[in-house]
Amino acid sequence: MLIDVEAIGLNNRERLSREQGSFGGPTIPGRDAAGIVVAAGNGDSPYQIGDRVVAHVNQSYADQAVAAVRSTAKLPDNLPAVTAAALVTPGITAYRMVYTFGRIKAGETVIIKGASGGVGSLAAQLAKQLGATVIGIGSARNQTLVEKLGVDRFVAYDQVDIANELAASGDVVLNAAMNGTGGDQDAAMTKPNGRIISVSHRTPVLRDGITFQHTYPGDDTDHAALPLLVKEAAAGQLTIAIDQVLPFTLAGFVAAHEALDGRHTGRIVIAKAAKTL
Ligand SMILES: NC(=O)c1ccc[n+]([C@@H]2O[C@H](COP(=O)([O-])OP(=O)(O)OC[C@H]3O[C@@H](n4cnc5c(N)ncnc54)[C@H](OP(=O)(O)O)[C@@H]3O)[C@@H](O)[C@H]2O)c1
Repeated sequence: MLIDVEAIGLNNRERLSREQGSFGGPTIPGRDAAGIVVAAGNGDSPYQIGDRVVAHVNQSYADQAVAAVRSTAKLPDNLPAVTAAALVTPGITAYRMVYTFGRIKAGETVIIKGASGGVGSLAAQLAKQLGATVIGIGSARNQTLVEKLGVDRFVAYDQVDIANELAASGDVVLNAAMNGTGGDQDAAMTKPNGRIISVSHRTPVLRDGITFQHTYPGDDTDHAALPLLVKEAAAGQLTIAIDQVLPFTLAGFVAAHEALDGRHTGRIVIAKAAKTL
């Protein structure tokens, strides 16, 4: 189907697309879009022209994006396109860490590194909903943001040695920190026979039956993750911090990528409705 894009959520990975292009040539980056259906696909499509949707696509930095039905979810009237677009990749990744790879169960202690970030903040909320005890790690300046997610404890990685402070205390460690930094800390914080799920590819040195799983991007969980994220966000059970909403202009994209390159708290979103720079 074809979507008229209203809002685009930006992700760290797109900094690489910007720098490298596609096989050295120009490319249209972006995975996250919210907008209006303008062509509803084949006869099996549950969508109609005019439906508000959110989708995990390829090439979302565009006026219109092609979306697969299985990677699309309908938006209720009360969920703004900006919020929906901001949820896509971080939400799907959080879903994969908590459900697909983490298989988190009630009563487990889950340590989330990067709990102040997009992926980590959503993972913290999903893990709490499953009945886990959640310890969120972020920088001291983001303590309030992380505590508002409902975590049981906050630890500042820039104030204490987290490997020491949380030694062997997590049944599960989710590493959603920038570039999956600090794999050895993750191993130190995990209980014997515990599990580490990380955005990093690098397996740390493991002891005592601890397992390591890299969470890789994939479309295979979109059909389960997107409707759940939309439903919970619309019901106010899931929140995502938004740092900046910039206009759908070249200057807007340049400013958005400058923000992405810098230190920010919350998502960077491009919206057609945003004021021109
Ligand atoms: N494999 C996948 O499927 C997949 C999918 C999506 C994203 N990712 C990757 O996952 C990472 C997080 O993405 P995101 O969109 O959530 O980014 P984000 O919103 O920018 O969040 C980054 C997080 O990293 C934390 N952080 C930065 N430096 C740290 C350090 N030295 N120690 C501990 N934590 C640190 C930040 O904490 P403070 O801001 O509080 O300092 C923040 O919580 C990125 O590297 C991204 O490329 C992977």
